[in-house]
Amino acid sequence: MCGIVGYTGEVQAAPVLLKGLEKLEYRGYDSAGIAVYDGAGIRVAKAKGRLQVLRDLTQDGSLIHGTIGIGHTRWATHGAPSDVNSHPQVSDSGKFAVVHNGIIENYLELKEKLIKKGVTFVSETDTEVVAQLLEYYYKGDILDAMIQVLRRVEGSYALGVLCADAPDQIVAVRKDSPLIVGLGQGENFIASDVPAILNHTRDIYRLNDNEIVVLKKDSVQVFNMDKEPVEKKVTHVEWDISAAEKGGYEHFMAKEIMEQPKAVRDTISPRLRGGRVVFDEISLTPEQIRSFSKIFIVACGSAYHVGVVAKYVLEQTVRIPVEVDVASEFRYRSPILGPDTLVLVISQSGETADTLAALREAKRLGAYTLSIVNVVGSTIANESDDVIYTWAGPEIAVATTKAYSTQLAVVYLLSIYLGDLLGRISLEEYNSYIGELEALPDKITKILEHKDNIQYLASKFFNVRDVFFIGRNLDYAMSLEGSLKLKEISYIHSDAYAAGELKHGTISLIEDGTLVVALATQKRLFEKMASNMKEVKARGAVVLGVTTEDQKQIEKEADYVFYIPDACPMMLPSLAVIPLQLFAYYVSSMKGCDIDKPRNLAKSVTVE
Ligand code: AGP
Repeated sequence: MCGIVGYTGEVQAAPVLLKGLEKLEYRGYDSAGIAVYDGAGIRVAKAKGRLQVLRDLTQDGSLIHGTIGIGHTRWATHGAPSDVNSHPQVSDSGKFAVVHNGIIENYLELKEKLIKKGVTFVSETDTEVVAQLLEYYYKGDILDAMIQVLRRVEGSYALGVLCADAPDQIVAVRKDSPLIVGLGQGENFIASDVPAILNHTRDIYRLNDNEIVVLKKDSVQVFNMDKEPVEKKVTHVEWDISAAEKGGYEHFMAKEIMEQPKAVRDTISPRLRGGRVVFDEISLTPEQIRSFSKIFIVACGSAYHVGVVAKYVLEQTVRIPVEVDVASEFRYRSPILGPDTLVLVISQSGETADTLAALREAKRLGAYTLSIVNVVGSTIANESDDVIYTWAGPEIAVATTKAYSTQLAVVYLLSIYLGDLLGRISLEEYNSYIGELEALPDKITKILEHKDNIQYLASKFFNVRDVFFIGRNLDYAMSLEGSLKLKEISYIHSDAYAAGELKHGTISLIEDGTLVVALATQKRLFEKMASNMKEVKARGAVVLGVTTEDQKQIEKEADYVFYIPDACPMMLPSLAVIPLQLFAYYVSSMKGCDIDKPRNLAKSVTVE
C-alpha cells in the first residue's frame, strides 16, 4: 500500500520527507513524490520509479526550499505507474496538493460531475478527485472544505493535504487506511506508519476513522466530522525499526495474514454497487461473454490453486466447461482454444514467466484473455485484453496469503457476474451470493480471533516428517493450498490428495502417527470424508479435521478439529484457507525457519 509522510517545523522539509519515504520503501511502491510550500506557492517533485529517481530530481531535496511539506510512495491502484499518476496530486489552480493511501470507490462519478463543471483532470487517479473537490468546496477554511469533501467521497483513505492559502499547516484525515501523528519539539509529522518518524520522535497519536488533524509546527489539533475538538492520548512507541516495518508483527507473513479481512473488503466493496456486481474496469461485452463456449484458467503455485477453486465455482454458477492448468504445462500441450474461449490468467506479481508465456500462447491462439493481478501495470496486466486488480496491497512475504484470498474474492465476483449475465443463476441466488460475499471479511476476522487454537495444534505437530492433506471437491482444492503453504515455509514434506484417491495407492503411506489434515467443509460430501477419516485412522493416522461450526459430528472421526464459520459452499474456501495458512505459519515459526524468505524461493518467479 502507499506511504504518506508530512512535516512542519524549523528545518528544510524536503530532506526530512525523502528520509521518511525511505523508511516506508519496504511497503512496496512504483513511484514517489513530494510537495513543499516554498514561500510563494506549492512546489511539487514526483516521478515514476524508485525513490532514488526523486532524490536525483531534487538533488536530495536541496532544490526545493521550505519547512512544510508532504510526501508519498505510490502503490498503483487506479492508473498505471507514471509521473503524472504519482502523488502528490494537485488541484487545477495548484492551490491544493494531496497525498492519499486507499481507494476512493466513487471517484468516477465525482470526476464526471467535476468535469461537467469545467474542471480539468490530468491523471487517471482516484486521488486527483480529492484535490479538485477541495478546490471546488474551498471558501477560505480548509477544515470546512475537507469536511465537505469527506461527506462526498466513499471508500478507504488516509489523506495529507497542503494548501497554499494556509502554508503553516497540514490537514490530514483517515478512514480505514492507517495514519499517525508524530509529536516533536517545534516540529510535527504525519505518516502512514511508525518507521517514517522513529528517527524524530516516539510519541504519536494514532488517528481513528474520521478524525481530522490540523498540524502546525507548534500545535496539533484533532477534530471530528462536526468540527468538534477530539482529545487524543499520546502513545509512546517502544518498537525498533524492524518490528515497526512489520506493524509490530514478527513476520510480514503474519501481518499479511491479519490484513486479509481488509484486503478482501477492499477488493469486493468497489465492485458492489446498489446490490449489483459491477466491473467498470473491463471492456468485455455481454455479446462476447455469450460467445464463449469454454473457459481456461492458467496460473502457477497458489494462483493455480485459486484456479482449481475457480473451476468448481464457475462450472457451478456459469455452467460453461472450465479447464485449469499450471501455466508451465498449458503452453506445451497444444491446448484446444480460440476466439470462443475465455482464458483467465491469475497472478499476484503479474510477472511470473510461465504464466506470462501461457498468456502469450493463449493470445496467439486467438482467445480472449482476462487476468486477475495484484500489481498494477505489471506485464501480465498490461498484455491481457482485460485485467481485474486485487486490492491486497503489496505482499512482501514469499508465501502468498492476502493476495490468494483477494484472488478468490474476484473469482466469486466474476462467477456471480457471469452467471447472472448468462441467466444461469436466479435473482434469489444472486442476492444470496452478494450477501455471503459481503459477510466474508467479518467471518475471516472471526477465524483470526481464534488463531491461538491453531498455534496450539501446530505445537503438537511441528516435528512431524510427513503430512497429508485430503479433501473432496472444493476441499481438495484447499488441500492443495494447505499442503503448499506448509511445504514452502516449514520444509516439511506434505502432499495433497483427493480423498477418494487414497484407496488407489496413497493409503499405503499411512502409518502410525502420520498426520492427516482432513478438509471436510462441504456438507454434501461430509459422510464420504468421514469414511476417509475412518480409513486413515484405522491405519494409525492422527487426523486434524477442518469443518464448519455446525458439523460437530466430526468429533467422532477426528482427533483434533478446527471449526470455521458456515457460509455458502462455494465460498467456504475463503474461510478454510485461513487455518491452513496459520498452521503453516506457526509450524514454521516453531521450527525456526525463515518464514518471509524461505530457502530456494523468490516472491516472483521471473525465470522459466
Ligand atoms: C505461493 O505461496 C508461492 N509463493 C508461489 O507458489 C506463487 O503462488 C507462484 O509463484 C505464482 O506467483 P504469482 O501469483 O505472482 O504469479
